[in-house]
Amino acid sequence: MANTASLSGNRRHFLDLCDLSAEEIRAILAAARRIKARRRAPLPTDKILAGKAIAMIFEQPSMRTRMSFDVGIRELGGESIMVTGKEIELGERESIADTARVLSRYVDGIMIRILSHGALKELAQYASVPVINGLTKTSHPCQVMADLQTFEEHKGDITGRTVTWVGDFNNVLRSWIEAAAKLKFTIRVSTPDELAPPDEVVRWAKDNGADLQQIRDPRAAVEGTDLVLADAWVSMGDKDAKRRHNLLRPYQVNRDLMKAAGEKAIFMHCLPAKRGEEVTDEILDGPQSVVFDEAENRLHAQKAILAYAYGEVLA
Ligand code: CP
Ligand code: NVA
Repeated sequence: MANTASLSGNRRHFLDLCDLSAEEIRAILAAARRIKARRRAPLPTDKILAGKAIAMIFEQPSMRTRMSFDVGIRELGGESIMVTGKEIELGERESIADTARVLSRYVDGIMIRILSHGALKELAQYASVPVINGLTKTSHPCQVMADLQTFEEHKGDITGRTVTWVGDFNNVLRSWIEAAAKLKFTIRVSTPDELAPPDEVVRWAKDNGADLQQIRDPRAAVEGTDLVLADAWVSMGDKDAKRRHNLLRPYQVNRDLMKAAGEKAIFMHCLPAKRGEEVTDEILDGPQSVVFDEAENRLHAQKAILAYAYGEVLA
């Protein structure tokens, strides 16, 4: 058996919300709030990445994740190095394990976007520096940390509240379900049967005390909710775009659906959005939408995630 590196000291990977305790998630959210409030007048102690270089590897396209991590790393005093998976022929020229071992000799951390969750886990297993999940086909935990921050800015404590996902089961929804189990809020999921959460996810939710409610009719699902969530109907790596469009057309978030949700509901979308498909312009640009706060919070939440990865608190 090959040796597997492990993180020394108080450093940690950030791979999935299910790996964190509720207290750790709460601590990251609190740090994100503080770092956002003092962004233009940071404390000298905020430079937690001084002298550190973080590698960012993108096997898939990105705007928000790439830019917000780059800015966040700089604001924390560190340096970033960006490569695409293609440039280094990730997983092709050598094993992911060897890339992890070699990169760990050069840099102090790795943020990666890669479809294969198995490859992310392998990278983390063999890296001796923190690895951060910047989206896989399975999960998108950085996004959901920013979403939780945004929800609480607009609506207060999420514990005991109700959020409703309308669309297909995907990576963002999985991280939301994991967050619901940890922070104890209700998550309603409205999907066509063909694109519903797989049994193993429903079982995990049940075993971990998540209040996951599957309600096929989107109008019934959003009634009285605090938050309506949507995402593009075709995610990275999906091959069946036409079938998805046909199945998901009744799940568009539009004026009628937001009316069924009620005035107190806010609307979120991780972006990029396909305007006129999963959501209309009227809703995306309307008074219930908080999507640009949500996008901004990627920056603050990820700075707090970086602090978590190095055992720092950004007090
Ligand atoms: N929401 C999100 O992760 O956006 P990008 O794909 O642009 O990084
Ligand atoms: N579910 C989307 C999220 C994009 C940020 C995807 O995986 O493409």
